[in-house]
Amino acid sequence: MSSAATLQERAAGLFGPVSSRHTDLSVVRAEGARLWTENGREIVDFASGVAVTNVGHNHPAVVQAARDQMDQLVHAGHNVGLYPSYVTLAERLVELVGDGQKVFYGNSGAEAVEAAVKLALRATGRPGLVAFKHSFHGRTIAATALSASAAAQRTGYSAALPAVQHVDYPSPFARGATVEEEVKRCLAQLDEVFALTLAADEVAAIVVEPFQGEGGYQPAPAEFLRGLRERADRHGIVLVYDEIQSGFGRTGSMFFYEQLGVAPDVLVLAKGIANGFPLSAIVASADLMDRWPAGAHGGTFGGNPVACAAALAVIQVLQSGAMDNARLRGEELMTGLRSIVDRLPMRAQVRGAGAMIGVELRRQDGGTAGDMVSALRRAALERGLLLLACGPDKTTLRLMPPTTLTAEEATRALAILDDALTEVLPSVE
Ligand SMILES: Cc1ncc(COP(=O)(O)O)c(C=O)c1O
Repeated sequence: MSSAATLQERAAGLFGPVSSRHTDLSVVRAEGARLWTENGREIVDFASGVAVTNVGHNHPAVVQAARDQMDQLVHAGHNVGLYPSYVTLAERLVELVGDGQKVFYGNSGAEAVEAAVKLALRATGRPGLVAFKHSFHGRTIAATALSASAAAQRTGYSAALPAVQHVDYPSPFARGATVEEEVKRCLAQLDEVFALTLAADEVAAIVVEPFQGEGGYQPAPAEFLRGLRERADRHGIVLVYDEIQSGFGRTGSMFFYEQLGVAPDVLVLAKGIANGFPLSAIVASADLMDRWPAGAHGGTFGGNPVACAAALAVIQVLQSGAMDNARLRGEELMTGLRSIVDRLPMRAQVRGAGAMIGVELRRQDGGTAGDMVSALRRAALERGLLLLACGPDKTTLRLMPPTTLTAEEATRALAILDDALTEVLPSVE
């Protein structure tokens, strides 16, 4: 008698190609930095559900907070009435971001980006938007319009997308330039947009990832954000930081912009905020929020009680040592990765902060090396380490373990990568 069908077999006829996946794993259980597959494999997870389970899969404190909340109230509808976790989380977010801020909740990253854009359009009464090449902001219409990380994501939708001017994002390694040269070049490009195609006083918002995610795990230089901040202030433009991927402890601080010392007008949060429960938020100055009138935006599920309770536990865990651990493990991983990629006859840059690390590989002539990254990912997964890729041609290996990664797991991951490199090295031309 044939054994029961696997999840992959059952899924084969159920989903279209749009529901594509990075691997053919079938995951049945997960804990911390490990997951277990349907066929019993244990995998060290450096994907974290794409930078979501920032304090580790099924963190006991988060699961307990969600359970306790479920015993009390699963849904009330924030449009219908207030409930404790909705208010308490907003209080905590305002404490984290700073006095004089207000909060709006959504369910996903794209939805929060959409909210930030609508807030900026409504509060300024201006039509224009500026974003950056290689950025990714999500899949709703406004978020797709802001994104410029792959034409495939926009194809067929262009008629519906609002106009956005895209400017280069500093990428010193890829361009073989210094950080200073890149910052100057990208800001000059923005000034040229203002001068030639979209007057600055027509711009509602500049939307930027302080640490570009899908675009190649590329942290912004502080000087670049200072340049954006200065232009936003000069022209009355709303500066929006999309920290959906880099926020909530991932980089070793609650938000990455804190490490750069340049604050936004609107902070957009999702992914790790509730460690896997769907929740997003925008946090913006009261001055802006108070110019967004009742009825101008809304939604049924935003700020769900269980997701808010989970987020409160996430903050507690992050502040009780997980962010310190992320910084420590991040340094160990980056040191180990540098000595591993030194063996490659390629140009390589290891960069990042905390548990957000990219390894960009380039051929000696500067060309991308997505094939090598893909071979490394495959060899690593065979050995029990799950890694994703990002950036142009997927030429950057992307490490996003939980902030709670143990020293033993970090060592194991480095050993697997080292071994994977030994396997793929002979194929490097
Ligand atoms: C920086 C950034 N913004 C927005 C999004 C979209 O978030 P979601 O997939 O939850 O809509 C993502 C998702 O990868 C992201 O990395």
